[in-house]
Amino acid sequence: MKNKNLQREISWLLKEKYSGQLTDKAIKDITRLKKGEPVDYVIGFTNFLGCRIDLSYKPLIPRIETEFWVKETLRRLTAPQGKSLGKPRFLDIFAGSGCVGLAILKNIKNVKVTFTDNDKNSILQIKKNCKVNKISKNNYKIIKSDIFKNFVKQKFDFILANPPYIPVKNKYKIQESTLSYEPSKALFGGQDGLFYIEKFLSQAKDYLTENGIIYLEFDGSVGSSQVLSQKKQIEKLLKKFSYSSWQFYKDQFGKWRYVEIKN
Ligand SMILES: C[S@@+](CC[C@H](N)C(=O)[O-])C[C@H]1O[C@@H](n2cnc3c(N)ncnc32)[C@H](O)[C@@H]1O
Repeated sequence: MKNKNLQREISWLLKEKYSGQLTDKAIKDITRLKKGEPVDYVIGFTNFLGCRIDLSYKPLIPRIETEFWVKETLRRLTAPQGKSLGKPRFLDIFAGSGCVGLAILKNIKNVKVTFTDNDKNSILQIKKNCKVNKISKNNYKIIKSDIFKNFVKQKFDFILANPPYIPVKNKYKIQESTLSYEPSKALFGGQDGLFYIEKFLSQAKDYLTENGIIYLEFDGSVGSSQVLSQKKQIEKLLKKFSYSSWQFYKDQFGKWRYVEIKN
């Protein structure tokens, strides 16, 4: 199985980066793959809903589960009843590579996106990805911040959040290549995975317009007969912080994956 995957990755690498030619550089890259480095880092970029996402600063590699809910969100926002959006302001918080906000900028007209992350490499990565995708400087802003700490009073119509949410105690379930190569601060959300989710939900209300909506990704597979699922824990937090209504959705694999929250 491992060998089959490696073969597939080598073919993909050669096709995407070397037009099928086995050059000296390609041979060096194949060694990186053999050592376990994720193929997207070796290729140097990935695609996300029509955007080219450069990965040279090694942010979290965008996941297909994230692509799924962002696509659903885009579909909802661009449906006929969503056409009266005006000029909505979006916040992509915990932005990493910037893939979520870039997909919004590329696929909806007349939007302004603010990206934020507290990691300096992510900030550099988002800058680069805005350039790579030819986004006009008038349409985006990048703020380095620990959650909302560096935000002065400002309100957003939509906040899109994919925080680190893996429980530290589930570290053993994570793929070796992810643990060795992807930034751990992008993955883990404290013992139960809820550390950043709780901090974010406790403050996000203040940065949402009256009719504003949050889309929040989480891990629907966390939980057991002894431990409440992340979905249940998030429901408790939404009540605690007095959000008006919410709806949970599953991903393409049938797992609870994201929640739409109204202010
Ligand atoms: C799960 S990744 C999401 C990246 C990207 N949005 C995506 O969907 O691929 C979480 C991101 O949160 C950032 N992060 C971690 N702690 C943070 C904090 N206290 N404040 C702001 N960002 C934080 C990490 O640097 C990482 O880029």
